[in-house]
Amino acid sequence: MKNFFFIFLTLYVSSTTFACIIWTPGFIVKIQNLIPNSIIQVHCKSKDDDIGDKWLTYNEEFHFKFCENELSGTLFFCHWYWDSKEQVFDVFNNTMQFICNIEYGDNNPCNWAAKNDGLYFYDFTKKVWGKQYEWKPRSI
Ligand SMILES: *[C@@H]1O[C@H](CO)[C@@H](O)[C@H](O)[C@H]1NC(C)=O
Repeated sequence: MKNFFFIFLTLYVSSTTFACIIWTPGFIVKIQNLIPNSIIQVHCKSKDDDIGDKWLTYNEEFHFKFCENELSGTLFFCHWYWDSKEQVFDVFNNTMQFICNIEYGDNNPCNWAAKNDGLYFYDFTKKVWGKQYEWKPRSI
C-alpha cells in the first residue's frame, strides 16, 4: 500500500504542469538560430545544471524553464559556436531577471537568438530584437 501511494505521488508530481510558488516568477530561456543555411552549436550551463550541447538549424530553437526569485541568484551562461565564430555570455542572471520579468507569471520570456551579425535579445516591451554581442573569431 505504501508503495502504491508512492508511485501515485510520483506520477502525480511528474505530470503536473510547470508552476512556481506564488511569490516566485518562472522564466523560459529560449535559444534560437536565425541564421539562414547554418547550423550552430549552443551549450548552456549553470552552477547546478548542464543543458548539454544543442545543435540548431535555421529557425530551430530550444528552451529551458526554472523558477527564480531575486535572492536565488541563478546564473545561466551559454557558449555559442557558428563556423569559425563563437561567443559566450550570461543568458540569465540577476540583471536579466528584472529585464525578463514582465508579469508573465510562470512564463516570463528571456529570448536570445543568433543572427549573422551577432547575438540578439528580444525586448518584449518594444517588440524588437536588439544586438547585445558581436561574434568573435573562434579561439580553438
Ligand atoms: C547579465 O547578463 C547580461 C546579458 O548577457 C549582461 O549584459 C550583464 O552584464 C550581466 N550582468 C552581470 C552582473 O554580469
